[in-house]
Amino acid sequence: MMRMDADAAQEAAAQADAGFLWDFWYPAARSTEIRGQNLVTAMLLEVPLVLGRTSEGKAFAMRDSCPHRGIPLSYGRLDGRVVECCYHGWRFEACSGQCVEIPSLTSQDKLKVERIFAGHYPCEERDGYVWVYMNALGTKLPEAIPAAPALNVFSEKYKITHLSCELPSHVDQGIIGLMDPAHGPFVHQSWFWRKRASIHAKEKKFEPIPNGFRMSPHSPSTNSAPYQLLKKITGEPVTTTIDFVLPNLRTEEDRSGKLWFSSRATVTPVRRDLCRIDFVAAWNLFFLPVWIFRMFGKTFLRQDQETMIRQAEGLKHNPRLMLIDDADRPAKWYFGLKANLIESRRTGGPMVHPMDGPVTLRWRS
Ligand code: FES
Ligand SMILES: [Fe+2]
Repeated sequence: MMRMDADAAQEAAAQADAGFLWDFWYPAARSTEIRGQNLVTAMLLEVPLVLGRTSEGKAFAMRDSCPHRGIPLSYGRLDGRVVECCYHGWRFEACSGQCVEIPSLTSQDKLKVERIFAGHYPCEERDGYVWVYMNALGTKLPEAIPAAPALNVFSEKYKITHLSCELPSHVDQGIIGLMDPAHGPFVHQSWFWRKRASIHAKEKKFEPIPNGFRMSPHSPSTNSAPYQLLKKITGEPVTTTIDFVLPNLRTEEDRSGKLWFSSRATVTPVRRDLCRIDFVAAWNLFFLPVWIFRMFGKTFLRQDQETMIRQAEGLKHNPRLMLIDDADRPAKWYFGLKANLIESRRTGGPMVHPMDGPVTLRWRS
């Protein structure tokens, strides 16, 4: 009845090799995908998951594997509270994973059914996503799990929209691609955004924040049309704050007078060779309809995706890579933050931040 230890050790070693950050919330699916009594599959950090919703509407996430003989539980049935395996009909309480019935047992059997658990993970819904807290195999959940990330909004009424795209790369490449300031003029050339010829020197201040760094509030680049428009309308300066926080969150807030735009991109590891960008944006800019934003947003994401598909072609051959100053400094901080977090978790010591204080970076883009 017990999982074999050797299996668990092997799996733990494979997990360590993959370079994922455990013990964080990750978006597994859109809330709208989890409906009725359907069981929906997802994968996070190479863990197959089955997601569903109880009859009370609470989303749950279980490991998509029956603890009996390993068949995916997603082939089974959900009755609103309990997931029944399709193979021998073992039944598990969906939110706790606890086994509540093994149909083959007779009254003579001594097996303690309630001691058997299917793998299950904390699950919360926020901003239209089902978030799953991925704790590493064989570890206990912390006593207090932080709340799942939530997008900041600054007025009661606003528009909100979601976009996503898959990238055939390790999450690290996805993340450093996301924070890379130097690819803009080459990858994101569009009439509505900017032209390659508009490349110019930039200077931005960065400061350390817990588990991440912040591009200090500043007035955004003068060569981007949307910011120009915003400034014209409100007559007030536009300030932009961009944060990156482990494991994978980039948030951007643009504010000008009463008008605001807030967005979050997460790059989530699915497998070691596949990650997914989930992008959510909210705003109260009356002149920006959702469909227009989506059209531009999709173009942007597609440009990044096409580039990363090409990059993956090159990365297959394990080339040596470079990170240069200053344009790649955020990428260096990311790797520093990640390594230092892993180290502090290993030793139980405090996390050392790779930045000693505010710095100014200069690059052309
Ligand atoms: S494999 Fe699921 S009940 Fe046997
Ligand atoms: Fe990009």
